[in-house]
Amino acid sequence: MNPADPGELLALARDVAQQAAVFVAEQRTRPVEVADTKSSPIDIVTAVDTATEAMIRRLLLTARPGDGFLGEEGGVESGESGVTWIVDPIDGTVNYLYDLPQYAVSIAAHQGEQVVAGVVVNAATGQTYEATLGGGARCDGRDLAVSEVGPLSMRLIATGFGYSQDLRQVQASAIARLLPLVRDIRRLGSCALDLCLLAKGVFDGYFEEGVHDWDHAAAGLVVREAGGRTLLTTGRGGQDLLIAGPANGFDDLVDALVEAGALPAHAVATE
Ligand code: IPD
Repeated sequence: MNPADPGELLALARDVAQQAAVFVAEQRTRPVEVADTKSSPIDIVTAVDTATEAMIRRLLLTARPGDGFLGEEGGVESGESGVTWIVDPIDGTVNYLYDLPQYAVSIAAHQGEQVVAGVVVNAATGQTYEATLGGGARCDGRDLAVSEVGPLSMRLIATGFGYSQDLRQVQASAIARLLPLVRDIRRLGSCALDLCLLAKGVFDGYFEEGVHDWDHAAAGLVVREAGGRTLLTTGRGGQDLLIAGPANGFDDLVDALVEAGALPAHAVATE
């Protein structure tokens, strides 16, 4: 079977992500309740997460019936076309629960061992970030480029925390050691939007242990197409650790994270 055109996959992903974002925002006008919990009592799912994932799955697989699907809320379907959709219906569910306008629909198309198209829509604002492999990254039609970073001490670094107390102990001690080395640290609550802000040149770096493919598949491509680098490795807590930043100065960030104890030195060497 011929590979699908990334531009066509992107057009479908954009259309579906924007429809889903409108649904998510409309549902926020009613009280939002926690429907279930996952890895820990603070790792929540709302009925809107589940309904949005079902909507995205239906729209994508109706348009392209042979594709596979992997969704945060449990949707798994193997396909035969070579394309698999990786979907987070609401990245930043805790923000959504608290009505903090920093939550997003994320849709990535994976083909031939890599993500070839990705869209992230901030559902609170409608802002749409997108990229295709080799085709650059844009936000609402404007080209994106990562920041020109200076020394580590002048960089604004975004991060996130996992939902398990053990992992948070590791993350808290790494933050305590990293904070004096950088300009400042931000935790906005959506991995996908943190990465998009990095692609836009707002943040100078990002790292988080405990991320999943659906959190960063689309936004990771946006970062790389905006001139950034991403490194997925294993952190001190034994879970997936994503590091992202402008290609220039990336190694300094990785070294600082090793020094802070966010990851062992050999985790970088084996990448
Ligand atoms: C979470 C957000 C958060 C990050 C967590 C993710 P979810 O995604 O991206 O910023 O710190 O690791 O799980 O659960 O809201 O889809």
